[in-house]
Amino acid sequence: MTHNVYYLANDKKAGVFCLEKLVINGRKPLHGEVNISGAKNAAVAVIPAALLVEGTCRIENVPDIKDVKILKDLLIKLGAKVECDGKDSLTIDTTGINTYKANYDMVKSMRASYYLYGALLGRFNKAEVAFPGGCDFGFRPIDQHIKGFEALGARVDVEHGVVKISADKLSGSQIYLDVVSVGATINLMLAAVRAKGQTVIENAAKEPHVVDVANFLNAMGANIKGAGTDVIKIKGVDSLKGGCTYSIIPDQIEAGTFMIAAAATGGDVTVKNIIPKHMESLTAKLIEMNVKVVEGEDWIRVSGGKKITKANIKTLPYPGFPTDLHPPITVLLCLAEGTSTISEGVWDLRFQYVDELKRMGANIKVEGRIAVIEGGSRLSGAPVNATDLRAGAAMVIAGLVAKGTTEVHNIQYIDRGYEKIEDKFRQLGADIRREQITEN
Ligand code: EPU
Repeated sequence: MTHNVYYLANDKKAGVFCLEKLVINGRKPLHGEVNISGAKNAAVAVIPAALLVEGTCRIENVPDIKDVKILKDLLIKLGAKVECDGKDSLTIDTTGINTYKANYDMVKSMRASYYLYGALLGRFNKAEVAFPGGCDFGFRPIDQHIKGFEALGARVDVEHGVVKISADKLSGSQIYLDVVSVGATINLMLAAVRAKGQTVIENAAKEPHVVDVANFLNAMGANIKGAGTDVIKIKGVDSLKGGCTYSIIPDQIEAGTFMIAAAATGGDVTVKNIIPKHMESLTAKLIEMNVKVVEGEDWIRVSGGKKITKANIKTLPYPGFPTDLHPPITVLLCLAEGTSTISEGVWDLRFQYVDELKRMGANIKVEGRIAVIEGGSRLSGAPVNATDLRAGAAMVIAGLVAKGTTEVHNIQYIDRGYEKIEDKFRQLGADIRREQITEN
């Protein structure tokens, strides 16, 4: 098996490569309550958005994940002061920001570093940021981001892997997105918030984290209306003021991962600190699959145990079924009676996890953008790779369900987006532990 080498900071100097893996002994139904952390995909946008604020702002309910740590370090390198003041809060003071440049070393390990384009452009009318890295499931273009920046009056050049954006002044404009893009929608809000006049983004993404970023910016003095619909109107303001506290929404995808794990293990889990409305597409599917789901004001209880029935699922932008829950729900479809399908409507190459699940006994065929899943599989533990973040979550769920021991490798992907995943599952009764693999 091949591993992407992951260095633990202290060991790098010593020349020792320390990899980590999750070891899971399956077949234990999950029971109890789990608290969901702040949303990764909101946090990775709100933190760069703080670059637009003059002064200090405090962000609460920030998830303790690798992507946030990378962004925090990135902001510090740009000249900001960032303090962790409490379990899940960051105080960011961007007064000292002194550069609009971020090189490849600074941005290579995360996709969401593309929010630096919009944030630095909005602050300095200039940004020079290397092409971002991130999860590996297909070509991830940024043409819609660029088209929007140009519509606002910026000039965009790509030289030696660096996107160079500059404008004498940014002016409001009408922008129609050719594809519904979360990243482009948020980036254009960031760039337009201090532009002169009104910007209208049409065919905008409606994801909860788009709304969260708009709410954060509005709390700092921006004038954004329509976030959560497909037309967002932004009236430029002169400045965004600090002194505010903002709390990030709960993570829709982490919540969904635990809901699916509860159903797959035939357990009974209450997923707490969530917004049930954000979970509607998953809740509806689980009910269709004969899983009991009860909703409260800020919690959902999922009880499995009955025969799971087949389903056909298509992933779509919000409010459709989220692409980020595609690999996890496939594990549940493997256990269902009959033949199910999952059709991927967002990412071309999201099927790399399928080969890993097959090693555990899953019966799945991929035809183009559709996976056909023959249900009734009795999964058995095996060594598997997390091929990306959500694929990693699927491997963990499969390990919790499978007979015997599963080892999930490449878990640095999982750590990018799930806070203390093994602790949360262990609290629900899972037999899961993290181990180091030391290679000289
Ligand atoms: N697209 C273009 N041109 C663009 C931008 C996007 O053609 O300029 C296409 C993409 O190729 C894709 C579709 O539009 O087919 C949607 O891409 P989008 O821009 O919405 O994705 P993203 O902003 O890069 C975010 C999340 C992803 C999540 C997608 C879809 C963050 C940091 N990432 O990515 O989350 O899968 O939206 O909901 O918010 C994850 O959390 O594991 C993750 C990958």
